Amino acid sequence: MSGADQTTHFGFTDVPLGDKQTLVNDVFHSVAQRYDLMNDLMSAGLHRLWKQWMVNALNPPRGDTPFSLLDVAGGTGDIAFRAAEAAGSGFRATVCDINSDMLAVGRERAAAQHLDDRVSFVEGNAETLAFSDKTFDACTIAFGIRNVPRIDSALGEAFRVLRPGSRFLCLEFSTVDVPGLDRIYDLLSFNVIPPLGRAVTGDAESYRYLVESIRKFPRPAAFADLIRAAGFSRVGWQSFSGGIVALHSGWRL
Ligand SMILES: C[S@@+](CC[C@H](N)C(=O)[O-])C[C@H]1O[C@@H](n2cnc3c(N)ncnc32)[C@H](O)[C@@H]1O
Repeated sequence: MSGADQTTHFGFTDVPLGDKQTLVNDVFHSVAQRYDLMNDLMSAGLHRLWKQWMVNALNPPRGDTPFSLLDVAGGTGDIAFRAAEAAGSGFRATVCDINSDMLAVGRERAAAQHLDDRVSFVEGNAETLAFSDKTFDACTIAFGIRNVPRIDSALGEAFRVLRPGSRFLCLEFSTVDVPGLDRIYDLLSFNVIPPLGRAVTGDAESYRYLVESIRKFPRPAAFADLIRAAGFSRVGWQSFSGGIVALHSGWRL
């Protein structure tokens, strides 16, 4: 199959690989202003716990040791802010995201929280990061990787920009594996979240895409294989909340 003929998923719809990013960008342009509020409503606040778990695993240095984090697909900055609050004075984070509207919300939040001297926002594509090799001490991606059309390229880029001895962490929705919870989860996902999205953002379709894209994301073992294929070592994952989310980890040795 030639590159031009390749297809991928946009939610449950098959689309040409080259079209997915534009569709994804439309979703996040549409929801950016209400993105943080919707996260709280959709997850009943649980996304805060999941993100804190990721930051606990990151465990940035508390002192003045320099430590640079790249948060890919970092959107409105949640991971970078939490990491900055946990870390010491040597901490700096770069939030890289392809969507200018998500970044604009993030910059406002950084200024409001007086974190703009430690957290910077850069527009860029996870598949082709504009950073030099071996630049960062850690790389995180939270709820971003399933939106990227070429996941293998994004993982390869994360590996490239990490210094040897540093860690990659990826938080993503996963596969619910608790009998009973899976039914409730499906019911809420498909029947509650799109109408809630319509009520809060005026856009049900974007939230339909978000719940469908979760179902299309590889199971944890298959995603771990992709992380290994990008060059990472000591790859593993941990599931939370009955498999609703999983935290994947790998090291560049
Ligand atoms: C669900 S949001 C997650 C935002 C943030 N990490 C969080 O946890 O709240 C997904 C983000 O991925 C970004 N994104 C999608 N495709 C991308 C790409 N190719 N490169 C960089 N960011 C991308 C979107 O713009 C959006 O901000």
